[in-house]
Amino acid sequence: MTLTERLNKNNLSFDDLVALLAADKEESNLLFEKARDIKERYVSNNLYLRGIIEMSNICRKNCFYCGIRKDNRKVKRYDMDDSEVIQVIKNAYDQGLSSLVFQTGEQKSPAFVKRIDGLLRAAKKLSNGKLGITLSCGEQDKETYKRWFESGAHRYLLRIETANKALYQKLHPADNIHSFDERLQALEIIKETGYQVGTGVMIGLPFQTYENLAADLLFMKKMDIDMCGMGPYIEHEATPLYKYRNLLYPLDERLLLSFKMIALLRILMNDINIAATTALQAIRQYARERAFLCGANVVMPNITPLAYRDDYKLYKNKPGLKQDADDSLKMIDQNFKNIGAHLKINQWGDSLHFARKKTT
Ligand code: 5AD
Ligand code: SF4
Repeated sequence: MTLTERLNKNNLSFDDLVALLAADKEESNLLFEKARDIKERYVSNNLYLRGIIEMSNICRKNCFYCGIRKDNRKVKRYDMDDSEVIQVIKNAYDQGLSSLVFQTGEQKSPAFVKRIDGLLRAAKKLSNGKLGITLSCGEQDKETYKRWFESGAHRYLLRIETANKALYQKLHPADNIHSFDERLQALEIIKETGYQVGTGVMIGLPFQTYENLAADLLFMKKMDIDMCGMGPYIEHEATPLYKYRNLLYPLDERLLLSFKMIALLRILMNDINIAATTALQAIRQYARERAFLCGANVVMPNITPLAYRDDYKLYKNKPGLKQDADDSLKMIDQNFKNIGAHLKINQWGDSLHFARKKTT
C-alpha cells in the first residue's frame, strides 16, 4: 500500500502509523497537509495561549532524562514566594492572558498541597473567576487532585512519557516512586476527578522505535485524552541518559518526527487541543509555528520571571532564557499571525473534545 493510500483511509491502524512515521520529507508534506485540513475543519485556525509559570524546580524524582532531577546537584533549587507568584499571575491577567499553567517539579508534602491550593484560590479571586488554571505538578494522590479541582483547577497535564512499560522502566529508576503502573493510575484518577486530561510523550528517545511511537499515539486515542503536549527528547549532559547520546537521531530528524507525531495525532483525534511545545523551539527557531501548520492549536509562552529561567532547564538549549513575558507574547502575536493563526488570548480555549464527550 502506498502512503497516500494509507493517508486516505478512515481509520489509521498500527501498521499505517508505523509506515507514516517513516515517511520521507516529501511524503511528510502530504501528511502535514491532511492534518492541517482536519485541524481547520474541527478546531479552526484559532491559537490558544497558556502562560506557564515554573514556580519551583524542586523535584523528588530522578527521571534519567531530566536536567532538574533530584540528584543533579549542579542545579540551584528555587521556590518562588507566593507573593511573587501572585504578582506574575496579576501581570499575566493584566496583559490579557486568561489561561495559565502552574508547573513545578514533583513535590508531595502537605505544605505543597496547601500552597498550590492557596494559589489557585488567589488566582480565581483576583480575576473574579476569569482565569482558567491548568496544573502540571506531577503524580499526587486522589484527595489532592480532588482538592485542587475543587479550588478551581480544571485541566491537568501529566505526560506518560512513553506508553511502553519496558521503555518507561529504562528511563526511570526501578523504585516505587517511578512506577509506570502508578503513572497510568494517576492519569485515570485525574480523569475521574473531572479534569480535562492532558498527556504526552517524548519523541526520539534512545531505544525508542517507530513501533513505540505508533503505540503512544494509539494509547492517547484509547485514553480518550483532551489535550496533548509532546516534543522531541533533547539530551542534557548532567543526566544518566546522556551516555546514550550516540544512539539518538540527529536533532532535525527528531524535529521532523515530532511534527509527524503531531500531525498523526490530529488525524486520530480531530478535536483535542495539541500544544506546539517549547522543546520544538529549542531545536529550531519557528518550529512551534511549523507545528501549528501541521496540527497544533495551543502555545505556552513562558511567563516565569527571568531570574529563575536558568534553573528550570530540563534539556539543553532551552529557549527564551532572556525573553520576558511581554516579549514572548509579542513574538507569538507577530509570528503566528503571519501564518494565519487567529490568536485567542483572552479565551480559555477548553478542549472541544472534552465538551463533546460531556454532551454525548
Ligand atoms: N528533553 C525533552 N523533554 C524533557 N522533559 C524532561 N526532560 C526532557 C528532555 N531532556 C519533559 C518530560 C516532562 C516534561 C515536564 O518535560 O516529558 O514530563
Ligand atoms: Fe522531576 Fe518531571 Fe524532571 Fe522527572 S521530568 S525529574 S518528575 S521535573
